[in-house]
Amino acid sequence: MIKKGIILAAGNGTRLKPLTNFTNKHFLNLYDKPVIFYSLSTLMLANIRNILIVTNKKDLNILQTFFGNGKRLGLNISYAIQKLNTGIPTAIKSGEKFIGNSPICIILGDNFFYGAGLQNRLINFSKLKNGSKIILYPVKNPELYGVANLSSKKRILKIKEKVKNSKSNLAVTGLYFFDKSLLNMIKKLKKSKRNEFEIVDILNQYLKKKKLNYELLGRGSTWFDVGTPELLDEASDFIKSTQKRNGYKIACLEEISYEKGWIKKKHLLEAEKIYKNSAYSKYIKTIK
Ligand code: G1P
Repeated sequence: MIKKGIILAAGNGTRLKPLTNFTNKHFLNLYDKPVIFYSLSTLMLANIRNILIVTNKKDLNILQTFFGNGKRLGLNISYAIQKLNTGIPTAIKSGEKFIGNSPICIILGDNFFYGAGLQNRLINFSKLKNGSKIILYPVKNPELYGVANLSSKKRILKIKEKVKNSKSNLAVTGLYFFDKSLLNMIKKLKKSKRNEFEIVDILNQYLKKKKLNYELLGRGSTWFDVGTPELLDEASDFIKSTQKRNGYKIACLEEISYEKGWIKKKHLLEAEKIYKNSAYSKYIKTIK
């Protein structure tokens, strides 16, 4: 059972400039909440409560002021700084101490998952004992992502990063489950042509050892990474119309925690101090 998770929330958000000249990508608004609420909610839905947020030095204070040690949300949140911008594996390595000798779930802070039955699936994914599990999602523009090529027997043949004219439309989403050999795999990495360490190279190491598995999120599920203004906008539209239709808020952290029995009613009432008279605050008041 994976009990620890890392949210990768550093980086420069280059494709989102000039928005990210002013703020960290993970603080931008994904409709009515900051981007990081959604990735955090995904870990929470997977019953992962021990969470490390990896971020930039200049953004640490903002995160710490808001989330603190996570107790308010029934979580145990700690922080690490990513010093070098040399790819996702480097970001993960910033959490070396936190990972220790444990299996770990990693989520890219700009990823958004939604769909019926998602919670149960996430809990199942986190039962991983051996190897690595990745989540695939069909997309129309696979050249923007890591993609998985499958054999006729639906086994993974190779994971490739951002290839033109990809035969596969299955994007590797930014949610990864790893056994405790992850840090050793990272040590073996060499920089790619674009002078970065690549997450796909870790996945291919697991694949070589026949220890890479996948789950498909298909029809009825939604996945976005919000790395560009268009995607941020499209994901916001999706959240807006879904919430407007049924009245439920997506990624209300207090609601998830309360429903899991991690916090009590009194914690919900305290939320008003933080969210004042916002719609988010009013929503929390309606939770029974
Ligand atoms: C990263 C990964 C890529 C993955 C994507 C998912 O790309 O390198 O393999 O498919 O996240 O969000 P980036 O968004 O950093 O370009």
